[in-house]
This record gives sequence, C-alpha cells and structure tokens, in this order.
Amino acid sequence: MSTEANPKSVAGGFSPREIVSELDRYIVGQAKAKRAVAVALRNRWRRQAVAPELRDEIMPKNIIMIGPTGVGKTEIARRLAKLAQAPFVKVEASKFTEVGYVGRDVESIIRDLAELAIAMVRDEQRARIEVRAREAAEERLIALLMQAQAAQLPAASSGRGPFVVSSHGTVQKPDALSSDPGALRAKLRAGALDDESVELELSDMGSPMVSIFGGGHGMDDMEMQLKDMLGQLPGMRGKKQRRNVKVKDARRLLEDEEAQKLIDMDAVKREAIERTEQAGIVFLDEIDKIAGSRAAQGPDVSREGVQRDLLPIVEGSTVNTKYGPIKTDHILFIAAGAFHVSSVSDLIPELQGRFPIRVELEPLETHDFVRILREPKNALTRQYAALLGAEGIELSFTDAAIEAIAEYAASANRRAENIGARRLHTVMEALLEELSFTASELSDRTIVLDAADVHRRLAPIMADQDLAKFIL
Ligand SMILES: Nc1ncnc2c1ncn2[C@@H]1O[C@H](COP(=O)(O)OP(=O)(O)OP(=O)(O)O)[C@@H](O)[C@H]1O
Ligand SMILES: [Mg+2]
Repeated sequence: MSTEANPKSVAGGFSPREIVSELDRYIVGQAKAKRAVAVALRNRWRRQAVAPELRDEIMPKNIIMIGPTGVGKTEIARRLAKLAQAPFVKVEASKFTEVGYVGRDVESIIRDLAELAIAMVRDEQRARIEVRAREAAEERLIALLMQAQAAQLPAASSGRGPFVVSSHGTVQKPDALSSDPGALRAKLRAGALDDESVELELSDMGSPMVSIFGGGHGMDDMEMQLKDMLGQLPGMRGKKQRRNVKVKDARRLLEDEEAQKLIDMDAVKREAIERTEQAGIVFLDEIDKIAGSRAAQGPDVSREGVQRDLLPIVEGSTVNTKYGPIKTDHILFIAAGAFHVSSVSDLIPELQGRFPIRVELEPLETHDFVRILREPKNALTRQYAALLGAEGIELSFTDAAIEAIAEYAASANRRAENIGARRLHTVMEALLEELSFTASELSDRTIVLDAADVHRRLAPIMADQDLAKFIL
C-alpha cells in the first residue's frame, strides 16, 4: 500500500512526454511551462526508485510560473494535479498574513493538504471494502426486518411463527414483509421494501457539540486539540442512538457504519501522511502579490512577513496536523504570478533560492484563441453546444465564425486590460446571450453560426467604447 511499493501511485508512471501530451488536451501552447511541470512530476517518481540514503537528499525543484493573467497558469497546475492523483491544494498567497495578524496562517496549507490526502486514501480504501460493507449492511437489515416482523405478529399463526400456510401448502406472506430471509433479501434488493421503516441503533458520530468547530479547514492547534478532547469525553462519542428510518436510508446508514468498521483508520492516516509528504503538491497562486520591493513601507512590511512565514514550509519543516506531524521537505511547490509590478527578484532571496525553476508563459494572441476555442476537450464552443444540446438544438460554428470570435477577443484585450483567454468567456457570452435566452422556444433545431452572425452581434458592442468595456 505504500508509495514505495507502487511508484505509479505518485505520478501515474507517466513519462514527461506523456504528461505534456495529456496537458495538451486542455491547454493550448505554453510548451515551456508544460515541460517544466512534467519534469517535476516525473522526478517525484524517479526519486522513489533511488536508494533511501540518497532519496532523502533529493529535494523537489520548485517552480515559479510567470505570465500575464488568463494564460493558463492555474489551469496547468490543476490539470497536473488530476493527472498526478496526488494530494493537491491551490492557495492564493495573498490570502495569508503575517503571524500575529488576522488571517490564515501558512501552516494551514499543509493541514489542508493532509486533509485532502486523508479523504483520498479513505475513498480508495472504501472502494476496496465497499462490497463487504454492503453485504454486512444487508445482513443487518434483514435481521432487523425479521425482528420487527416477529414483534409485529406475535400470535398470528398459533405458535408456528409468522408463517401462514395456505390450503395448498404454499407459504404466504402475511404482509409486505416475509420472514423467509431469502425472500426478504430478494425484495430488499428489488427495492420493494424501500419505504418500510425500521428502528436502527447507530453509534452517534457527528455529535453537534463536536462539529460546531466547522469542517476542519484551517483549524488552529487550539481548536484541533479542543475538538479531540471533546470527542473523548464520555457521552460525546460512541453513544448509541435509536432512530426510526426508512429502509432505503437505513441501508445507507448501515453501510456507512460497516465501512467505518472495516476501514483501518490508523492505516489510512499513515498512508495519507506518507502521501502528503512524498507526493503532495502545493500551488501558490498570486505569489507576486506578496513580493514587494523592500524599500517600500506600509503593506509591504506584512508581505515580507508572509514570505518569511512561507520560507520554513518551502524549505522543509514539520507541521503538526491532527493526523500527526508532517515533514514538508519533499512537497512540491509551484508558484505562479503575473509579476506586472514586481519581479521575482523582489522576493526575499531565501525564497527565490527555493524556486530554482522559472518558466514564462506567453501572452495569448488571436491564433491561440482560435485553437483554445476549438481544440481543448472542454473548449467553450463545445460547452455551449452541449448546453444547447439539452434543448434539442444542434449548435455549431463555422471556421470563419471562430476566427471572428478570436479576433474580437484579441482586440478587446488590446483595447482594455489584457485578461488573456478569460476574454473568450465574456465574448462568447455576449455572442450567445440571445440564443441562450430563446433556445427553448426556437423551432429551428440546427444552428450554424457564421462570421456574419458574429459581426452582427459583436460589432455594435465593440463600436461603443463604454458598452464594450462593460460587456466584454
Ligand atoms: N493556454 C490556454 N489554453 C486553453 N485554455 C486556456 C489557456 N489559458 C487560459 N485558458 C482558459 O482561461 C481561463 C483562465 O486561465 P487560468 O485560470 O489558467 O489563468 P491564470 O494564468 O492562472 O491567470 P491569473 O494570473 O489571473 O490567475 C481558464 O478557463 C482556462 O481554461
Ligand atoms: Mg490563476
């Protein structure tokens, strides 16, 4: 179960080229950034094959992605994480404030990562024991139903139990239930008993007193300890609760309870901690927002403070989580920022040193937009076509239409702020607003948008400076 035994679980065993081509399915261009993250991911996997003494010496080569807004930085990181099947968190660096100030402390990043790893490993384990849990739940449910029935029909057939034997010797069911486990099982599986009710005795897990502290996101040590303490108080945990529930709900509740019993939480914790330490990826977005020239006063003081707080985590330290201490030495950090006003050299030197790989993402041009509209699996044109497909409408775009849309997006980017591919969203929305509204009433079921349609809709908006600013 450990990542050592199965390095594939770290990076899916993809080669850098495979990783890049996987990213290509969603992100247009940005070859350099894709290569860098692909190598970083592959290095995780390579490291697992290295002898232990040296393995611990090999630190991840953290990456800074530099590029204007809306060119795919976040998208690359997000797709990478999916591919890696690694615990992955994305956080905005600007969300943190220096220790002692109001805001989140940076260690919560690692706690979130651990939380994710736990959920991940627990889900995997659960999938493994699902069948057993379902069977066990079914047995309990059948036993409960038979019990309920025995109680309901105490003297129905004079000492012979709840059987009613008809004149030609067949056993008849006295009511919806049957006391024959086999028949009960069949009915249960067919869903015929879904609306019957049974009385369940469940161990009370989510006691409200304990859960008032929220979902465990960004919990401080104090809260963590408090929660654990409360959980151990007599009467706070393990208390059994009797409840009357419908069979269909009972099945789910019992399955949950059986799954809890079958999952070894200690093993889950161990595996999750290992996976966080060895495979965790932290995406630090907006890193440029905490870089400030050191001469400046005011908020920059606290920005540098955040950098100083981040430093130990990026350099390697131990963070306490409710699942145990987590060493951050081998967690991969990918930072991203536009660096319009500041530059990487405005980060404190120690932090710069921990991000040895710098990749620049290129601004997107008209020809990129054409490809972005057409190629990715989740391309906007496909999304709109699928949405209108729900109305029974077949929407398509001519090549000229797509080129026209791309040109409008590019020129809107030139005229106002350059927001990269994000512009396509507003342009497409403006283009298809009318159609989206009337789609359900249209009699014409096949719609092909050509360049003329695009101009008719978008030219008036572009012509009006204020309108263009507002809509696009
Ligand atoms: N190269 C690209 N190929 C395909 N889609 C892209 C590309 N770049 C951006 N997009 C799309 O544009 C949107 C914004 O991209 P993303 O979130 O990656 O921007 P970003 O570079 O992180 O910008 P910011 O600096 O503002 O965070 C996403 O919906 C993404 O799908
Ligand atoms: Mg982003």
